Amino acid sequence: MSSVSKTQDNKDRIFIFDTTMRDGEQSPGAAMSLDNKIELGRLLDQIGVDIIEAGFPASSVGDFEAVKAVASICENATVAGLSRANEKDIRRCAEAVRHAKRGRIHTFISTSPIHRKHKLQMEAHQVLEHVTSSVTLARSLVDDVEWSAEDATRTERDFLKQCVEAAIKAGAGTINIPDTVGYSYPDEYSELIKDLITNVPGADKVIFSTHCHNDLGLAVANSLAGVRAGARQIECSINGMGERAGNAALEEIVMAMRVRGDAMPFETRVDSPQLTRISQAVSRITGFPIQYNKAIVGKNAFSHESGIHQDGMLKNAQTYEIMRPEDVGQGHTNLVMGKLSGKHAFKKKLEELGYTLSDNGLIDAFVRFKDLCDRKKQVFDEDIIALVDDQIAHADDAIQVARLRVVAGTDGPQTAEIDLKVDGENIWKTARGNGPVDAIFNAIRAAAPHEAVLELYQVQAVTEGTDAQATVNVRLSANGRSASGRAADADTLVASARAYVAALNRLQAVTGVRSGGVNVA
Ligand code: KIV
Ligand code: ZN
Repeated sequence: MSSVSKTQDNKDRIFIFDTTMRDGEQSPGAAMSLDNKIELGRLLDQIGVDIIEAGFPASSVGDFEAVKAVASICENATVAGLSRANEKDIRRCAEAVRHAKRGRIHTFISTSPIHRKHKLQMEAHQVLEHVTSSVTLARSLVDDVEWSAEDATRTERDFLKQCVEAAIKAGAGTINIPDTVGYSYPDEYSELIKDLITNVPGADKVIFSTHCHNDLGLAVANSLAGVRAGARQIECSINGMGERAGNAALEEIVMAMRVRGDAMPFETRVDSPQLTRISQAVSRITGFPIQYNKAIVGKNAFSHESGIHQDGMLKNAQTYEIMRPEDVGQGHTNLVMGKLSGKHAFKKKLEELGYTLSDNGLIDAFVRFKDLCDRKKQVFDEDIIALVDDQIAHADDAIQVARLRVVAGTDGPQTAEIDLKVDGENIWKTARGNGPVDAIFNAIRAAAPHEAVLELYQVQAVTEGTDAQATVNVRLSANGRSASGRAADADTLVASARAYVAALNRLQAVTGVRSGGVNVA
């Protein structure tokens, strides 16, 4: 096998390995349901990601089922599962990826002295034996095996080379060199990749891969430096989701190579106009907002505020833009329709925005759209996206907000009356609070008692103007797990109640504890 694959115009192909559903899901509060993973798997496959890491099958039944489900729906992408270097993990992983057209086992072990001593309690020779035995077993079960040296960048160079050589000899086709703690500098990382490719026997027969964490904000720079040194696979995630400060952001990697083809003569299969859509889907699914100034997909990535910049833009967009908004799927803000728009036009608009709803889903969305038109003068594409995303996210929730009434203002006490539907039963409660939002959350706690702690409450306007819809993010934690919820509404207090309830539903799903109206723990 040659490690280099060429595109039609003779550029080197870079394989994009997405780990949003594995490393990304390890971000506290980013848990995804099976349906979320199926939706995301489809989108990643559609936009041209080469390898989708859908989970860690041995870690839970939920992860196993998710890898299995994503494996069975992907048309083009290889579907990978992660596994530690032991027989049980590897067999479980093989079982999950067996359903894929192209399945991969991604097995890893820590190689650095600090991990060997404190995490594995193994001597170097034992780690080396595990490399050989794990890759050999994985190769006996599937053809496509990737091996990773966890904490590679803090590993003694000679020992790392021995491990890489052992993994290649045992049959790994991809060798991943993670900067697990995000400690490297780009020149150090590229020197490491180059040294391994040049000096490890058999290195020319495999693909080297980068997997860089963002603790110093260098994940994308390090990944690109790795590619310049000869790596041909990049592990990354949508919106840079991942452990701690996250991983290299997929959208930034793809556009850095596309915009600067002169410096980076490489190509990916990713369809860049779909980047914003998938970024928004990940944000909706995880409840993690996209920072306004986030490169490529942030709301402000193509906004120009200063007069000098605006003047330049009007004369020629290239004065201040190195790529066009449409290249990454950031359309201009469109005024869409109002009160008089019919269902047919609304359906067409949804299709344009990339949504295909069931007949019932369309009816519900249309009713909510009409309601929004009554409350808001101008309805923009962003409003419709927020409305439909909100509907998709909450349709099957066990707890739903049926009605809410809030008394607020200078004269206090602030009071909320809530009608919660819990597993089909309506529960009506009233509570006071230190402000309207506190009163609402107290009323929800009274209607569905639980001990979850509020970790985050955040409000953002979807568009401009005082009648704009608000998107509210809430993160709750209990039993060492956390979950996020998001909701949008023209009434900020309604959005707050629904976001809190969404987080509660998700927390129940990840902790496995049901409320039944009384005992969420
Ligand atoms: O950061 C890391 O080292 C990892 C490996 C398991 C690939 O996520
Ligand atoms: Zn990682």
